[in-house]
Amino acid sequence: MTAPNATTEPKVGGRAESAPAPERSHKLWGGRFAGTAARAFEALNNSLAVDARLWPFDIEGSKAWAIALWHAGVLTLGESDRICAGLDAVGRRLADGVIATPSDEDIHTLIDRLLHAEIGDVASKLHTGRSRNDQVATATRLWAMDACRRLDVVIKDLQQALVERAESNVGTLMPGYTHLQRAQPISVAHWMLAHFWPLERDRVRLSHAAASAGVLPLGAGAIAGSGFPVSRVLLQGTLGFASRAKNSIDAVSDRDFVAELLFTLALGASHVSRLAEDLIIYGTSEFGFVRFGDAFSSGSSMMPQKRNPDALELARAAAARRLGDLTSMLALLKGIPSGYNKDLQEDKAILFSAVDATMLVIPAVAGTIRDLRFDTARMRAALDASMMATDLADHLVERGASFREAHGVVGSLARAAEEREVPITALSDETLHAAHRALDASSRASLDPDRSVARREVDCGTGPRAVAEQLAAARTALRG
Ligand code: ARG
Repeated sequence: MTAPNATTEPKVGGRAESAPAPERSHKLWGGRFAGTAARAFEALNNSLAVDARLWPFDIEGSKAWAIALWHAGVLTLGESDRICAGLDAVGRRLADGVIATPSDEDIHTLIDRLLHAEIGDVASKLHTGRSRNDQVATATRLWAMDACRRLDVVIKDLQQALVERAESNVGTLMPGYTHLQRAQPISVAHWMLAHFWPLERDRVRLSHAAASAGVLPLGAGAIAGSGFPVSRVLLQGTLGFASRAKNSIDAVSDRDFVAELLFTLALGASHVSRLAEDLIIYGTSEFGFVRFGDAFSSGSSMMPQKRNPDALELARAAAARRLGDLTSMLALLKGIPSGYNKDLQEDKAILFSAVDATMLVIPAVAGTIRDLRFDTARMRAALDASMMATDLADHLVERGASFREAHGVVGSLARAAEEREVPITALSDETLHAAHRALDASSRASLDPDRSVARREVDCGTGPRAVAEQLAAARTALRG
């Protein structure tokens, strides 16, 4: 069988022209079995197509293990060096693409077979005091730590795209919506930055997920701890883990870090989905606030006029998939007894596909945002006078009314305008004054959208100075 080629990472790949003669079956556990495994079992049990991409991390872990075995007096320095050099050679073969055989049940088995082919029998000493249980946990954690770094880069770039577009739109006004009903005028930059901060929290969660992954399991063996006095401090330092698992049983079965990363991706995907949904709505002909560029839109095979925001729709769908990934993982974990169980092999398919998809979605959304055109005139035109009703009520409060009284007065004016099918600004000075004696012609100034925005300079508000400060805070966050 041939493991598939990777698009995002080096992987085990088949290349017909370099196919070696079939190598004899190489299992890590054959000794106690008289019969051979059924094909149906091997087909189910084989995880190479999924875990092949762990190879750089598995090799890194194995080299650290070879050094730890020398340090523990189990291997001579010469043996340890030969194993490390052999593992480097195996890495080169894997990077080039090798043909897997049916007995290569997972990446650990394949690397072991290739190591034997490289350096002969001394390879057999590498697995001393180690199990695939602590080995796979180590490689998966290293992979997850690396994935967190890669994810941080793309999320940061999406944030950067939002900041870039916000920067030139601090003074551009649009309607802010609650219940998808026009609520109050806001600055376009303020709306864009509303999507910046959730992503910033996602990056914090990502760093927590990376810290949870950064706990060394190696040395736990199959369940009880290695029978050889390896230095886990040495392993920790060599492999760059922040801490060491305290309990070997927990070490081989803890997949909390996978669930935490999947939660981070699920919540992050729902943030991106909400951003996508805003843009999809604002891009409809009915709203017309934004227009999608050619680079991230598709057309219709039938309707020549169509320009569809597919990247955003796929981002919205991705959130559904990530939610499924998280629930799959939690369901997988909840029922298994302590220690390693083969159920845990399935963690990687979930984890890898969630990370891969996120690495595709986020750059496409960032690109869509950079490619957008704002129709600022349409946004401005959508600011109807009723959206400043709160400002008129605030004005009455400034002139001595209680807010409750003011709310009632402005509510009655809004109703009167609605009945006459005119904007609130079209009501006469007499009508205003009749509604409340403190209202007069000068009160109309409070129905101006620019004034409405300008008086919201509370920090976190949509006022231009507050938004400029918010932008500065966003830029500072991106430097961190
Ligand atoms: N391929 C396995 C996994 O991903 C490696 C660990 C196998 N351990 C075992 N006891 N069979 O979980």
